[in-house]
Amino acid sequence: MNMPIALIDSGVGGLTVLQKVMQILPNESYIYLADNAFFPYGTKPFDVLDVRLQKVTNYLISLGVKAIVVACNTASLHIESMQKQAKFPVIDVIVPTCKDVLSLTKNKKVCLLATDATVHSGVYQQILNSNGVEVVPFACSNFVPIAESSVSNTFQTKCVVREHLAQIAGDDFDTVIFGCTHFGLMKESINQVLGNRNYVECGDATALHLKQILQKHNLLGNAKSGELNLVTTGKATSLEKVARSLRLQFTDIKVVQLD
Ligand code: DGL
Repeated sequence: MNMPIALIDSGVGGLTVLQKVMQILPNESYIYLADNAFFPYGTKPFDVLDVRLQKVTNYLISLGVKAIVVACNTASLHIESMQKQAKFPVIDVIVPTCKDVLSLTKNKKVCLLATDATVHSGVYQQILNSNGVEVVPFACSNFVPIAESSVSNTFQTKCVVREHLAQIAGDDFDTVIFGCTHFGLMKESINQVLGNRNYVECGDATALHLKQILQKHNLLGNAKSGELNLVTTGKATSLEKVARSLRLQFTDIKVVQLD
């Protein structure tokens, strides 16, 4: 099955998921859609984002993809309506990430760094609390534009991150969830403040989950060298820059309009 797999995010954050997915599934072709025209997702009302994601899903269906990975926590809150539209697997990042968290935390106390929408949805808290894990939620939508504009680990960014995270740095959670895929790009800045703990990004668990789902549906690809095409609904500058910094080899980068 050599149809491509699509990954979507509001911008460059999902590239951190794509990187892991491409390592685990090298014989696939990929389309990465950065919905920059609608960036950021994390501060938009639920209904508004739901309509946008239906549009995004329809566009990806029209490209003939065999699966969609919602490489964005905020968009993963809309997984049910996206799954209803598609006749192929659409997978989220939240459920697989929680599995990783549950296997890592020893003191059963974790910190959730995520967008306002993800924190306020309570989805992480629900899954983790029902498995006996306490969650310290910290909404930091203000970090997202920093990561998007490729200044994730500059001196100035480190100061901003320190100022915001100082209030939770003394807490004794043993695990930190990067519950926004953009935050993987800010690892260095965040780790400097929160120190020696487990850090969980969405990429690893989601990539393994995707592999299992493709196997189950007999959809695994066998392309000798899969290709990656980047698409944005906005400007391509940041997408190209971050893709290169993550050493993602892409064939093409194009701008589309979904409106
Ligand atoms: N990368 C997205 C996430 O994982 C959200 C960023 C945004 O607010 O657009 O939630």
